[in-house]
Amino acid sequence: MAKIKTKWVCQNCGYETPKYIGRCPDCGSWSSFTEETEVKNSNSSLQSVVIDNTPVCLINEIEITESIKASTGFEEFDRVLGGGLVQGSLVLLAGDPGIGKSTLLLQTAGNICNNGKKLLYICAEESGSQVKLRAQRLNVNSDKLYVYSQTNLENVLSQIDEIKPDILVIDSVQSVYTSNITSSSGSVSQIRECTNILMDIAKNKNITVIVIGHVTKDGNIAGPKVLEHMVDTVIYFEGDKYKSQRLLRSIKNRFGSTNEIGVFNMAENGLEEVSNPSELFMNERRDVVTPGSVIISTLEGTRALLVEIQALVGTTSYPSPRRVSTGVEYNRLLQIIAVLEKRIGLNLSKHDVYVNVTGGIEINEPAADLGIALAVATCFRDVVVDSDCVIIGEISLSGGIRNVSDLEKRIYEAQKLGFKKAIIPKLLKKLPDNFEIEIIQAERLIDAIKACVSSQKSKT
Ligand SMILES: Nc1ncnc2c1ncn2[C@@H]1O[C@H](COP(=O)(O)OP(=O)(O)OP(=O)(O)O)[C@@H](O)[C@H]1O
Ligand SMILES: [Mg+2]
Ligand SMILES: [Zn+2]
Repeated sequence: MAKIKTKWVCQNCGYETPKYIGRCPDCGSWSSFTEETEVKNSNSSLQSVVIDNTPVCLINEIEITESIKASTGFEEFDRVLGGGLVQGSLVLLAGDPGIGKSTLLLQTAGNICNNGKKLLYICAEESGSQVKLRAQRLNVNSDKLYVYSQTNLENVLSQIDEIKPDILVIDSVQSVYTSNITSSSGSVSQIRECTNILMDIAKNKNITVIVIGHVTKDGNIAGPKVLEHMVDTVIYFEGDKYKSQRLLRSIKNRFGSTNEIGVFNMAENGLEEVSNPSELFMNERRDVVTPGSVIISTLEGTRALLVEIQALVGTTSYPSPRRVSTGVEYNRLLQIIAVLEKRIGLNLSKHDVYVNVTGGIEINEPAADLGIALAVATCFRDVVVDSDCVIIGEISLSGGIRNVSDLEKRIYEAQKLGFKKAIIPKLLKKLPDNFEIEIIQAERLIDAIKACVSSQKSKT
């Protein structure tokens, strides 16, 4: 017999309580509880997910089944996934409204079907003809691609049994529902229950499932955090809606590294992958370089990327000077400013400092320190860093420059893009001498400042 239950569920984290409370004891958010009435059928899928049928055994006795990875047709996407879509895995693709999630997955669907796989695309937000229109614009066409406009998961399940697809796409998890429970679609209980069912499809039927998830205003995947825990891979699709660059970034991956990013460009007929993103990020740079503009070589996953850092330093009109950073951690900037003041003697206490990373990239690694410091210092002194010079190095509090990981890879990327000079930390070991680029080793911050502006005259 069905049991009727009501409960209050935090829409932020999924915490449940029998009574209303104002503040969630789990995630701390206020007024996040909604009452959800739930009729649970005895055939609820909650217990039914079986990941593996192997009985208890010793770890030494387990045979490794090689996971089969299917290409998405996009090298950028494959790398973020850790080599491709693992068969029978559950992937969550999250992103802001209108960023291009459906576009990415429809193009991917086309590629996959062209490789001979069968794919079922559930559009729970759009009609079949809307999807067809998009497919026409994106030039996606295949006789293995099935589209089903449906929000009820039970109907989807019966189609799966009929079509027997290799891959299932759900667009989106917030708009499908299961009749197992009565709460409205998009509620925490529904999302959780639906994800359970999808997990079951992935693991028991060995179908790869990709679900699209919407993101709330504060940047989290709408629905409980448990969603992230349940799936195998969480990927964010992000970018500035008014610019054409898009970044794919994995937040969690059971089959690969989470440091990789994939770069795409949104064009008239769909997403194009950018296999050399440094070029894209450098494109915006003019030939005439302004003071405060510096190119650094940063590492995103296994790939070196050249990015421009811009600083603006000007006399403040506030009682205390402003420090604003975009793409660089705020405290890191404060620390670099402190080092510049103490070790170089720049008096920045009456100056506002703005630092910006172009291309919407977030830089979290200390190897960017030297670049940031030089951007601020050269803007303050109104001199220009050589336009063909790349800066690599971490700064210590004493004003020394520390070595960074994968130095050769970073230098190589700069050389590949036609840079003539690299300022790097002083090394104890010898660098391979096959670099064509001029390499300047700087021991201290002051040496680096001299090296990058020595050939310049002050503009003033
Ligand atoms: N006719 C068109 N020509 C060029 N670009 C278009 C065209 N139509 C849509 N786009 C681009 O596609 C984007 C929408 O893509 P898409 O529908 O895949 O996003 P989404 O993330 O799935 O959005 P939603 O959250 O609404 O589902 C638009 O923001 C726009 O950049
Ligand atoms: Mg969409
Ligand atoms: Zn909560």
